[in-house]
Amino acid sequence: MPDDLLHLPHDLEAGDEIPSNTSANPTFAQIAEVRLGRRGMLMGGLASAISGFIGAGPALAQGSTQAAQRPTIGFKPVPISANDTVVVPEGYSVQVLIPQGTPLDGRPWRAPTELTGAEQGMAIGAHHDGMHFFPIEGREPDQGSSSDGLLVLNHEYVEPRFMHARAAGLSLGSGRMPLTGGARDPDEALKEINAHGVSVVRIAKGANGRWAVMADPRNRRITAATPMEIGGPVRGHALVRTKYSPDGTRVRGTLNNCAHGVTPWNTYITAEENWAGYFRNTDQVDQKPDLPREQARYGVPTGQGRYNWDQVRDGGDEFVRFNVSKTGADATQDYRNEVNAFGWLVEIDPFNPGAMPVKRTALGRFAHEGVVFGPAREGRPVVAYSGDDSTFEYIYKFVSARPFNRATANGALLDEGVLYVAKFNADGSGEWLPLQHGVGPLTAANGFADQGEVLVNTRLAADAVGATKMDRPEWGAVDPRDGRVYFTLTNNSRRTPAQVDGPNPRAQNRFGQIIRWREANDDHAATRFTWDLFLIAGPEGDSRIAGGAPVNADNMLACPDGLWFDADGRMWIQTDIGEAEQLKGPLAPFGNNQMLCADPTTGEARRFLTGPHGQEITGVVTTPDRRTMFVNVQHPGATTTPAEWAAGQVNSRFPNGDGVPLSATLVITKDDGGIIGS
Ligand code: FEO
Ligand code: CA
Ligand code: CA
Ligand code: CA
Repeated sequence: MPDDLLHLPHDLEAGDEIPSNTSANPTFAQIAEVRLGRRGMLMGGLASAISGFIGAGPALAQGSTQAAQRPTIGFKPVPISANDTVVVPEGYSVQVLIPQGTPLDGRPWRAPTELTGAEQGMAIGAHHDGMHFFPIEGREPDQGSSSDGLLVLNHEYVEPRFMHARAAGLSLGSGRMPLTGGARDPDEALKEINAHGVSVVRIAKGANGRWAVMADPRNRRITAATPMEIGGPVRGHALVRTKYSPDGTRVRGTLNNCAHGVTPWNTYITAEENWAGYFRNTDQVDQKPDLPREQARYGVPTGQGRYNWDQVRDGGDEFVRFNVSKTGADATQDYRNEVNAFGWLVEIDPFNPGAMPVKRTALGRFAHEGVVFGPAREGRPVVAYSGDDSTFEYIYKFVSARPFNRATANGALLDEGVLYVAKFNADGSGEWLPLQHGVGPLTAANGFADQGEVLVNTRLAADAVGATKMDRPEWGAVDPRDGRVYFTLTNNSRRTPAQVDGPNPRAQNRFGQIIRWREANDDHAATRFTWDLFLIAGPEGDSRIAGGAPVNADNMLACPDGLWFDADGRMWIQTDIGEAEQLKGPLAPFGNNQMLCADPTTGEARRFLTGPHGQEITGVVTTPDRRTMFVNVQHPGATTTPAEWAAGQVNSRFPNGDGVPLSATLVITKDDGGIIGS
């Protein structure tokens, strides 16, 4: 494992990026202490830190009929697991579908180590993450066939040692391959690039109840090299002009696609999360790094890039672009601006394989975990929420300028509107602060010449308006019954006691929490809201769930990440304890990563699934009838140490029972054909 990955702090793992919010905007604690007094914040521990916050804020409307419609949760919870297997409740069955390397063109399956770079470009990628099942009719995202559809899923990153035959026996962790003769092998780098991105794959249920990949002209791979349009206010901006696209309208590829979103007009959105580390900038002044703010605030490395793709032997433009140093006479002669075309939400139409993906820049540039849309209402704006998953970063929402009209809605709605960032107040209220050029501090005098500069520097704009620094915002989800918005805050062990606040109530937060809010007047376009904490994860003695009780053996969890509501209002919570901490120290009691099912009204929660060694559970969706569920197992075996790998050992054999471990999709059904979770 390269040095910079070996020496990551314990709260980061291969794939996470180092914190880069050095802004001086106040933490919530500095506001809250005015009300509570610092002594009260620090001395009372969890109980006083959360009093008034847990389950207290956004009550349902009086007499709400939706509140009365509670989802049934009928399964027997499964125990914590430290075994290398998938466990689901009694009466449920699991099928493994589309492990990495599954061909989309009808060829027989071969292990990823046996594929060429080009072959990986037409096979299921690595590290499955956010995912949606689009019924084959192609009209509504959640209505239509429950036995035939396009499964669309993200591939977050790669584990090169599990992809290249040459890696066998080398002392390698989950980072990059060693250089040979001072360079990367071109086909190895291409295979890694082609294992990133998004897969669109038609799947159908056979007469025997088993699901299989079907041949279909819409089967498609979008990779870290696929040509894409730059849409929205940044299209054509000087900050995205490159040698490849001198007019700043196009870029190749999408990177580190974590969670996803589904638009009301039946398209898929992939989120670019930890993209900065794929690049590097070696520019210096006076022997010190000399990075522009749009790179420095996002943590672009000054040493090596994540996989050294810029260092491919005799590498062409498609590889060289990952070096964003100034090498040419101006921006159209080099790739100094390449990284500015990453960090966006990217829209893909799975039913139109000829359509180029579009980066929707009006929704901001940051480490997008994913995006979740508020319910679409005729004649009202489209609203989308997205979290920036890094320590002390923010939660955002976009409100479209034009109203939603079901007959004509399309991605252009996402090109005009207002991006807001969240400020959580000590009294349980909150505000959405606009990131608009010319409004408040976002003026030319303060270094923001136009809206393009505001958006390319979204984090700096959010710093300037005084947003609340959060504990790594991950997935968001909207309760279909009452419109409340939930976000997971996965952990933040860097938060000091002086930085503790209401939404982030613990110092050295190893376990995470789930925050929720209700928009003023239940209008998702509102600029005010009320919030509370739904869940504080952790061991029994250091946790709370809505209603105020601690978690118990049936629902104990740490590091909530994936979050999704089914149509009945069951909340599905997935965990991502980092591989450096799994089964160790304070995280040991939580076992392998898992998925739970909760009733958001009562706070009742039960563990539904536990996964194999080394993985995270991420990505969940059901068919419209809610009788088939798809769940992803990402990076099994990632906890294998370099020494174990050198000795020919891996600590997971998921899913095949032999060979290298592979990310894959689980297909879960209830043996009596019933609704999953009921
Ligand atoms: Fe890719 Fe923030 O999880
Ligand atoms: Ca995640
Ligand atoms: Ca992870
Ligand atoms: Ca995570």
